[in-house]
Amino acid sequence: MKILATGTEGYIGTLLGGVLLERGHEVTGLDTGFHKVGWLYNGVRQAPLHLRKDIRMLTEEDLWGYDAIVHLAELSNDPVGELNPTITYDINHIGTIELAKMAKRAGVSRFIYMSSCSVYGTGDESYSTESSELNPQTAYAHCKVLVERDLTAMADENFSPTFMRNATAYGPSPRMRFDLVVNSLAGFAWTTKEIRMESDGTPWRPLVHVLDICQAIYCAIEAPRDVVHNQVFNVGDNDENYQVKDVARIIAETFPGCRLVLGSSSNDKRNYKVNFDKISTQLPNFRCRRNVALGARQLLEIFSKIQLDKELFEFRGHTRLKQIKYLLETGQIDNDLFWSEYIATEQDKTALNPQVLTAAE
Ligand SMILES: NC(=O)c1ccc[n+]([C@@H]2O[C@H](COP(=O)([O-])OP(=O)(O)OC[C@H]3O[C@@H](n4cnc5c(N)ncnc54)[C@H](O)[C@@H]3O)[C@@H](O)[C@H]2O)c1
Repeated sequence: MKILATGTEGYIGTLLGGVLLERGHEVTGLDTGFHKVGWLYNGVRQAPLHLRKDIRMLTEEDLWGYDAIVHLAELSNDPVGELNPTITYDINHIGTIELAKMAKRAGVSRFIYMSSCSVYGTGDESYSTESSELNPQTAYAHCKVLVERDLTAMADENFSPTFMRNATAYGPSPRMRFDLVVNSLAGFAWTTKEIRMESDGTPWRPLVHVLDICQAIYCAIEAPRDVVHNQVFNVGDNDENYQVKDVARIIAETFPGCRLVLGSSSNDKRNYKVNFDKISTQLPNFRCRRNVALGARQLLEIFSKIQLDKELFEFRGHTRLKQIKYLLETGQIDNDLFWSEYIATEQDKTALNPQVLTAAE
């Protein structure tokens, strides 16, 4: 299939490009590059050709000829969403719907959307299924709900949206995120030999390995159209609902010499368990092949190979909110999160402008 994958310079997308190529698809990547600097290690065998573009600047012609779009390019976490909720709605809701409308006009028949289990919000003790009531707690999660609503209304015989409600991802990716719970705890375990939590760790959180998300995406793309047409899938595994304290324990046991200190507060709003029966029974060939214990061992191996230190662990490129704030504060992106005019260095100016060179001589 000819696929346009957006967000291919992000945490999941950096791996997804290679995975889709290995499946024999013809892939083009697209990303505006907010987190390009967050490269932790060289971990991809092949990467697709790439367009450097904001999804809000795309035209219909850009989308001609594709069979499917896999759409990952959004502001990808709750704190970034709260930094400026308006811009989150502009990119994550309006931007995505405009992209889908253009895709439909351009004749792209499949649209795989990266939604999130955070649409369920705080739950009771039961496991949320795809038909459970939604209860989004943040601008980020609310946008996911709005996109699902509006894309559903666009589905017809020529256009098949599919909604992947992903659990929280974990595991190594060359473009690493340390603002995700497992990766963050593993980073602390390695750099400080201690996991110290303020919370008591009782909230439940569904988790999924980043490569199992990539697998779910290619299974959805390769599935017969009637199986995925206008369908919602929770992406994860019933055995991968964890209490945060159990995740911390698994990591503390994996990282040699790591001490675990649990706190006593329990004010984490995100607390939910999710049922993953549908994806494992209805999406052909899909099953999660990894778990947190494996992910923790993989992280330990990578940190040890690259000698991860505190500075690298805390680098802004690995934390979505820090990087967006840095780009705003240094004027590299404007308040609408568009890149500012080209910022030339003094050396560039000299090379580009012979008069400067003459003057200097
Ligand atoms: N990582 C998770 O745990 C998780 C869980 C559920 C859903 N998701 C969803 O999966 C997708 C990818 O997540 P991720 O963790 O790889 O995020 P990420 O932040 O690492 O990657 C997102 C990429 O999108 C790009 N982007 C953002 N706005 C853009 C725009 N306007 N135009 C072009 N590119 C833009 C960024 O530069 C970035 O490279 C997101 O939609 C996210 O909401 C992720």
